Amino acid sequence: MKDRTVFICQSCGSRSPKWMGRCSGCGEWNSLVEEIEDEAPAAELSFAPSEPVLYEDIREAAKPRIQIGIEDFNKVLGGGLVLGSLVLVGGEPGIGKSTLLLQVSRDMAAGNESVLYVSGEESLEQVKLRGDRLGVGGGKLYLLAETNLERILAQAEGLKPGALVVDSIQTVYSSKMTSTPGTISQVREAANQIFRFCKRHQVPAFLVGHITKDGSIAGPKSLEHIVDVVLLFEGERDHSHRVLRAMKNRFGPVSELAVFEMTSAGLQPILNPSAFFLRERPRDEAGSAVVCTIKGTRPFLAEVQALVSSTLFTANPRRMSIGFDHHRTAMLLALVEKKVGYSFAGEDIYVNVAGGMSIDEPAVDLGVVMAVVSSLKNGPLPKDMAFFGEVGLSGEIRSVGQPLARIKEARSLGFGTILLPAGNLAALDKADLPDIQCLGVRTVREALQHVF
Ligand code: TYD
Ligand code: MG
Repeated sequence: MKDRTVFICQSCGSRSPKWMGRCSGCGEWNSLVEEIEDEAPAAELSFAPSEPVLYEDIREAAKPRIQIGIEDFNKVLGGGLVLGSLVLVGGEPGIGKSTLLLQVSRDMAAGNESVLYVSGEESLEQVKLRGDRLGVGGGKLYLLAETNLERILAQAEGLKPGALVVDSIQTVYSSKMTSTPGTISQVREAANQIFRFCKRHQVPAFLVGHITKDGSIAGPKSLEHIVDVVLLFEGERDHSHRVLRAMKNRFGPVSELAVFEMTSAGLQPILNPSAFFLRERPRDEAGSAVVCTIKGTRPFLAEVQALVSSTLFTANPRRMSIGFDHHRTAMLLALVEKKVGYSFAGEDIYVNVAGGMSIDEPAVDLGVVMAVVSSLKNGPLPKDMAFFGEVGLSGEIRSVGQPLARIKEARSLGFGTILLPAGNLAALDKADLPDIQCLGVRTVREALQHVF
């Protein structure tokens, strides 16, 4: 029996047997999406009894988890890969998703787990070529070059692998639908069917999803509510580091992240990201400040660089900021002019977070101010000093979250002095502080006086 498909308007819900550019119900343009008519009843998927259960009587089922070879990856997943879970790994094309999942498959196969890796984008030879660089070999790793959903599921049913990888979900299509592969309908149908497979056989699966920089491809976005876990794999293509973090996780927190370096032999976990991001820091150069930032739950040290140089365009000097919000940079510059009395008129100002890292928390404000003033005065900052603190519009330095984690990270990388909000310092128990000089400051002016 061939299932019928129907086109459903995503804005008013009215149904139509064929696709139309404009919904006849509500008049919305381009809102019809194909769906399969005779869906199996949702009850097939529900595990809970359909009777009310007393809260106390519910036993928390300890979800068995598979440990993946990469320790930080396990943390991002909330302590390992839950059996029967569906994990979407999203990222821009070329960022390294296939590489990452082939490495994960390699490790699982080496750990005596059978893995079915379905490649819809590359031939088996291409996958093998990559695998050779990654040192794949031995173990029960099966490759399948296939894009038809029904055939993929038939193979998976036959093989009953310990884990399934589908690379990528945008290439998979169901022959029950008329829509082309990669459309919302096809991507959603494929994800739904794979989800059922996962739950029925308690097999964990990874779906690769391509996302463009502005997140505009509807595919992976429309999958977020179907899958159990959404991981994002990010980085700048011209830089070697990559960050993996959870955006949604039904089985754990979403705060952990893992940092990798893309090398000629695949992705290597970076165990000490701070040292990695500071490794090429110039000593005794003006315009470089080390900031203590938090990404996820993890403290990081990063280098903020600033370049202040006299402009050729006096009417309209340049203001550029890479890796840090440029509106915030502009605000900080205005504030330093007004409250401290420096003049940036006639100066081009560039601010950059080294290593291609991007930082989006105000706790690095103080570091940005320090780097800019250091470049303006052409005087380097003390080289064993690190900074954190939010700067308010009156020039006050405001407390930020997790001060102790930031201080400890700076200490562990050999920094001797740290400039931080006085409010943070006052609230800390002196007994907890590591062996590092902590200077609490109340205003930008006071901070600058400490240094210059
Ligand atoms: P890939 O995993 O194919 O990206 P995606 O699946 O997200 O599209 O990786 C793409 C880039 O990674 C490619 O430009 C080459 C680079 N790369 C390495 O630098 N080292 C390696 O060992 C591998 C396998 C890839
Ligand atoms: Mg790929």
